Amino acid sequence: MKNFDHYGYKRKQGRWKRWFLGLIALGVIGSLAILLGTFRTSSVASNVEQPLSEAEMVALIPKGRELALAGDCFGCHSRPNGEMGAGGVAIATPFGTVYSTNITPDKTYGIGSYTRADFHRALKDGIGKGKGNLYPAMPFVFTHVTTPADLDALYAYMMSIPAMAVPNAKNSGVFELPVRPFMNFWALLNFPDRKVVEDPERSAAWNRGAYLVEGLAHCGACHSPRNVMMGVEFSKSLQGGFVDNMAIPDITAAALANHGYTLADLTQYLATGVSKEGTSFAGMNTVTHFSTSQMQAQDVKAIATYLLTDRKGKLLSADVLPMPINEVSKLMDKGELAQGRNLYMAACAACHGEDGYGIPHVAPALKGNAIVEMSNPETLIAVVLNGLETTTYSHAERMYAMPGFKDRLNAQEIADLLTWLRAEWGGESVAVSPKSIAVINP
Ligand code: HEC
Ligand code: HEC
Ligand code: HEC
Repeated sequence: MKNFDHYGYKRKQGRWKRWFLGLIALGVIGSLAILLGTFRTSSVASNVEQPLSEAEMVALIPKGRELALAGDCFGCHSRPNGEMGAGGVAIATPFGTVYSTNITPDKTYGIGSYTRADFHRALKDGIGKGKGNLYPAMPFVFTHVTTPADLDALYAYMMSIPAMAVPNAKNSGVFELPVRPFMNFWALLNFPDRKVVEDPERSAAWNRGAYLVEGLAHCGACHSPRNVMMGVEFSKSLQGGFVDNMAIPDITAAALANHGYTLADLTQYLATGVSKEGTSFAGMNTVTHFSTSQMQAQDVKAIATYLLTDRKGKLLSADVLPMPINEVSKLMDKGELAQGRNLYMAACAACHGEDGYGIPHVAPALKGNAIVEMSNPETLIAVVLNGLETTTYSHAERMYAMPGFKDRLNAQEIADLLTWLRAEWGGESVAVSPKSIAVINP
């Protein structure tokens, strides 16, 4: 048996082996090619190698300032109470912490030595001067769509702000290691060459809004789901995400209309951080505080117009709330929601009002509040457990802090309260279970 088979088997094994080694070699060569960036092509136009003249730079500053506000560059590149643009904000990922860098025109620590072309490469290709691949914590997958003319304006403005000699913080975790070349693999799978093309069928406001939301304003960085590699799932753009243990609302037109927003309310929410549908908090407060509340009114309205327009081009507006049905109405019949209502009156009504309309300058309305209306209750649970810090809004609006109820109400009580709250004012018919609270507050 053995003899009979000997050669044939050997030869066959040899063939398999060669085939297998060939495959590995191909894999290695392919990986090396990716690692070396063979498949990364620059989308930066060659004419940007030419520097801009002093006069051109000066003329572009005001336009650049507006774009920097839309891009929330300082929201991410300034520590609270730190120097503007000097970086140092920690961005935690499951793989370690990345710090935003100094983007003031300081020659040693900042981007003072960036040429016009270097700057275009950073925002369009995600390539940092002398660094190679930037980490996607810098939202270059979004800023990529920015036009060369607008990148010039941004560059001119960034070069005009005060230079700050603040050294950069050291990244931690895997980001301490020389892993930048490996981001080429990431880019191959997660950095599509998106473009925002002008749609002549739509209004100027819609087109401007599309360009900002899909680009510099990077709303999808939080509001779109991400895959296991933390890449943005553009096929589900703005349909809701998950950041910092918090469900981020769906902000597609239908969802916003369903949450009660009209064009005027949404514009107001973005421009001030406060509207009858709720206030901006957590990550969204950075956005309204540093970015949308500082932008020109027409750009904010353009963003709201784009968001509230559905795919067919129809501008949607506040829908009537759906009636709570099935599960909750059964509970209601059994009188099981009374406990939730009583708890609300005792714990929340003093600030949010007995009728849920809130109290001006004290606390926002909960009736029709978008957080109460989210079908996923995780954000609502997190707010009630942990509370919210006092937030300052634009135009000197200020509210109280929202206390956390972690130590005051148990899981069953919070579940009862929120089931009632969601049914009564949120049109949500699915009961909140004490188990889902224990998951967030083990
Ligand atoms: C969501 C947070 C965030 C926003 C918003 C953001 N950045 Fe960044 N940016 C980062 C992080 C983090 C890094 C560092 C990435 C790295 O080390 O690879 C970075 C790096 C950079 C760099 C490379 C600097 C260097 O060290 O070489 C430039 C240039 C830059 N950002 C400019 C901007 C501009 C201009 C805007 C506004 C249009 C902006 N960023 C908005 C987080 C952000
Ligand atoms: C001491 C006053 C106070 C009490 C009591 C209070 N809240 Fe709040 N609540 C606030 C304030 C102020 C905010 C806005 C905070 C911010 O945006 O930074 C807020 C925000 C919220 C939000 C987020 C909605 C939004 O648009 O900002 C929810 C949900 C909420 N409260 C629910 C409750 C519930 C449920 C209770 C009772 C268990 C409760 N609150 C008790 C003051 C209070
Ligand atoms: C850093 C993460 C982050 C970014 C970037 C971000 N958001 Fe948000 N957004 C949130 C969070 C968290 C909430 C939920 C808390 C709240 O309602 O304030 C939210 C809520 C909202 C809401 C309220 C929706 C509802 O139904 O309650 C709107 C509207 C919104 N965001 C619009 C935008 C727009 C427009 C942009 C881009 C200009 C943007 N967001 C960028 C984190 C973000």
